[in-house]
Amino acid sequence: MYSEKVMDHFQHPRNVGEIENASGVGTVGNAKCGDIMRIFLDIDDDEVIRDCKFKTFGCGAAVATSSMATELVKGKTVQEALEVTNKAVMEALDGLPPVKVHCSLLAEEAIHAALWDYAEKNNIVIQGLEQPK
Ligand code: FES
Ligand code: FES
Repeated sequence: MYSEKVMDHFQHPRNVGEIENASGVGTVGNAKCGDIMRIFLDIDDDEVIRDCKFKTFGCGAAVATSSMATELVKGKTVQEALEVTNKAVMEALDGLPPVKVHCSLLAEEAIHAALWDYAEKNNIVIQGLEQPK
């Protein structure tokens, strides 16, 4: 049912934890199942994401997508990080079962919420980033 990459990221999640004094923090909940994901971003003066950590209270697919999403945003600029959509994360994981697709939305939403937090704190605009609900 799950790809090898999903199993790998579920069993050995990358970048679990918190970042103290993070540049941006985003917390989102999944209305469907009540699960919660929090993403921490450390962003340098050139708007490059130096580090990214996550905490997820959720299912295996949510853990795997968070893990992969943190790997994908590291080293990207805040603008490029918008390309890390749930579709991109799922592709990087070689797919998810259809009933688990909603779990991958958490990662995208949490990244967007963290980017929004960063933009607000620094009074900048990230083109194409919508205010989290
Ligand atoms: Fe909550 Fe998946 S329904 S963990
Ligand atoms: Fe709740 Fe996956 S995040 S079922």
